[in-house]
Amino acid sequence: MEEPASFQADRINHLFNNFNIAAAAVLLLVIVLTTWFTIRFRRRQGDNSEGAEIYGNRKIEIVMIGIPALLLAWLFYQTLSVAGDVMPYSKPRRPPDIIITGHQFWWEVDYPGSHVITANEVHLPVGRQLVMEMRSADVVHDWWVPQLGNKMDLVPGVKNYLWLNIHRPGNYIGTCSEFCGEQHAWMRISVVAQEPADFNRWLDSNKVAASPPQDDLGRQGKALFEVRSCANCHRVKGTSAAGTAGPDLTHIGSRSTILTGLMETNEKNLADWIEHPQEIKHGAYMPEFLFAKDSIRALAHYLEQLK
Ligand code: CUA
Repeated sequence: MEEPASFQADRINHLFNNFNIAAAAVLLLVIVLTTWFTIRFRRRQGDNSEGAEIYGNRKIEIVMIGIPALLLAWLFYQTLSVAGDVMPYSKPRRPPDIIITGHQFWWEVDYPGSHVITANEVHLPVGRQLVMEMRSADVVHDWWVPQLGNKMDLVPGVKNYLWLNIHRPGNYIGTCSEFCGEQHAWMRISVVAQEPADFNRWLDSNKVAASPPQDDLGRQGKALFEVRSCANCHRVKGTSAAGTAGPDLTHIGSRSTILTGLMETNEKNLADWIEHPQEIKHGAYMPEFLFAKDSIRALAHYLEQLK
């Protein structure tokens, strides 16, 4: 694991390094002994006698069984100790800070304390122990951001928990790590780790309802969004669109990418996506609608303004 950025990733890295050091030491010992025995006990010229037949040697047996047993016991202890640090309890003792719900093929991100729901771009504060609750809305997914430590499955009907204590701000990329369908490979995770003050600012800006469109094209887009099928699946806080099957779009314009990192968020990409979703992300649950060109332009213009 390169550049671990959380307490959990540090501990796992430490364990991985210890296993590597132990494995390297064993490999070195085997190579040295094999080489030494090959030279030391080779057949000399003119010597055609059989080698001595030796049965049993208590001392050597104790060493040969004792050292590997001690090594295994040490690695077992290390594993338990790291597992305990990474997952201190099977169930957390306080409500979760974040609830992540896996969907085919995106991530719902819910901050229960502040009634903020967003998608795909997971903002987290650094420097404190977070409890993340992991759920699934459909099939088994798996959360894995390598720099932040361990994986966790998201299983329908089950609540799993992940503890996370991030050291430093940054963008950390991960991916769904359990095959979940056609767009599994494009179920990326983007974690934006921020200093607590920046995180709170972000959270506050996401608590508010969507800003109303600034121009006529935007207003047209909003009207279309609310009366056409969009509102059945997507929510835009502060409007009549309250669907929950698809990602919350209240502040989609402020997220840097759409479709879990597949495309940059801009008007052109939003329009392309609305026009040909099945060409861009085949298998995603976004139907191909037959919108007129100017309707698509209005919708994309409206969505891009949702900051
Ligand atoms: Cu979700 Cu693979």
